[in-house]
Amino acid sequence: MSATAKKQAPNAEDIRARKGGTPLVSLTAYTTPMARLMDKHCDFVLVGDSVGMVLHGLTSTLGVTMEMMILHGQAVARGLSQAMLVIDMPFGSYEEGPQQAFRNAARLMAETGCAAVKLEGGVEMAETIRFLVKRGIPVMAHIGLTPQSINTLGGYKVQGRDAQADAVLADARAVAGAGAFSVVLEKVPQKLADKITAEVAIPTIGIGASAGCDGQILVVDDMLGFFTAFKPKFVKRYADLGPLAEAGIAEYAADVRARAFPGAEHVFADQAPAAKTPSKG
Ligand code: KIV
Repeated sequence: MSATAKKQAPNAEDIRARKGGTPLVSLTAYTTPMARLMDKHCDFVLVGDSVGMVLHGLTSTLGVTMEMMILHGQAVARGLSQAMLVIDMPFGSYEEGPQQAFRNAARLMAETGCAAVKLEGGVEMAETIRFLVKRGIPVMAHIGLTPQSINTLGGYKVQGRDAQADAVLADARAVAGAGAFSVVLEKVPQKLADKITAEVAIPTIGIGASAGCDGQILVVDDMLGFFTAFKPKFVKRYADLGPLAEAGIAEYAADVRARAFPGAEHVFADQAPAAKTPSKG
């Protein structure tokens, strides 16, 4: 199918079935207009908890709440008709145990209409993933660098180098075995990502991992150049819209100060213009 042909939104099983096929395309989105722009180009769109850093100015994802995810999830849902909607479970909404995870995942699905949730963690989350999947909630797992755990991981470091590789591989096996329909591999060395992709039966979605993964995801504000606080090595800038937007704002400010805006074409006359009479013949 061409990138722009009209398609039906895939579900979790459609995504699972894409293992080893044409790479899955995904981006994050947090607003309706951005979701509309990416709808026909993406297989799934993630409302990531990165929303906290990208749109709300937080310094990590730890302060993101269920209410924020629901609000942005509803906004993104309005912009999608062809791509699947996946929403992140925020920090503190699922780690206590399967029941807490079910309650909050069910709320995300009921209030946003999302088709699946994503949660961070490997072996330690397998029981929770199994519980959710058995009760009708498709789960995308997220292993490697899990940003909700930066305080125990010691920062945004590559995960799975040297002796750590076996632990990341065990995480991948655990989430796949528990029934996750796909797994995000974040900041995992390329060879390890390729090994995991070859070993597990579900699609791997890379972010700072390998082109050999079954799909890729990026934070949209990173790849479009809106988020400029820092640029991770794994981000490719496909556009530089931040500086472009600032130039537009600067020009507007200069126009206002010079009374060059609004111009004659932007203001209204006292009298409504006369209605046009249809021409004869
Ligand atoms: O929150 C997020 O945006 C994510 C992606 C980076 C995978 O989890």
